[in-house]
Amino acid sequence: MINLAQAKKNPHLLEFIRQSEKRLQNLKYTDHGLNHVELVSARARTIAIEVGLNKEEQELAAIAAFAHDVGNFLSRGHHNYLGSMIFQQIFWKDFSPEQMGHIMQAIVNHDKDVMDFSDPISAVVVLADKSDVRRSRVTVKDGKFIKEDIHNRVNFAVNYSKIDIVRAKKRINLCLKIDTSFVPVIEYFEIFTDRMMYCRKAAEILGYKFGLVINNFELL
Ligand SMILES: [Fe+2]
Ligand SMILES: [Fe+2]
Repeated sequence: MINLAQAKKNPHLLEFIRQSEKRLQNLKYTDHGLNHVELVSARARTIAIEVGLNKEEQELAAIAAFAHDVGNFLSRGHHNYLGSMIFQQIFWKDFSPEQMGHIMQAIVNHDKDVMDFSDPISAVVVLADKSDVRRSRVTVKDGKFIKEDIHNRVNFAVNYSKIDIVRAKKRINLCLKIDTSFVPVIEYFEIFTDRMMYCRKAAEILGYKFGLVINNFELL
């Protein structure tokens, strides 16, 4: 098996991530490029360590998280399925069938309408990805456009975000600081309810409860 540092050197993976970043930037989406996947990968590793997954699972989660959005350069709609297939085509020699299966599941499961996953590695990747809400994810510079689009507006209003794992209480908290003068908390819920349900499902798989703390108020 190769590790994250080795996977990151693969020219196909890197180029496809770059093209995905560009394509979504042109569509005025929030950042889905290198910054996003680096952050999600680091966060996935931290969560995996803190919930007690073993070394190999930690590495698989970090790798799956780094590659999770690679399918976006082909299609936004099915980027999770495409990304999983692309990953297998690039790296089929580098992982055992079992390891590959976990990574492929995690890439597919990070973005689905039906929350029917049960693999802990997928759960870690979901938590790491869905919790990436932050001002620096907004790629458009035009203030007028930021205000017009709810995804941009809500991301722009978040000036602090952190995943906190409280082992003693078996809670995984997403802690956010939102500039409520820019966007009311209700707008956050308006677009992120599905994401929060996704996180709750993922936390449950890991034996945890999911909590949401906004501006120091426990909302979930
Ligand atoms: Fe995605
Ligand atoms: Fe993502």
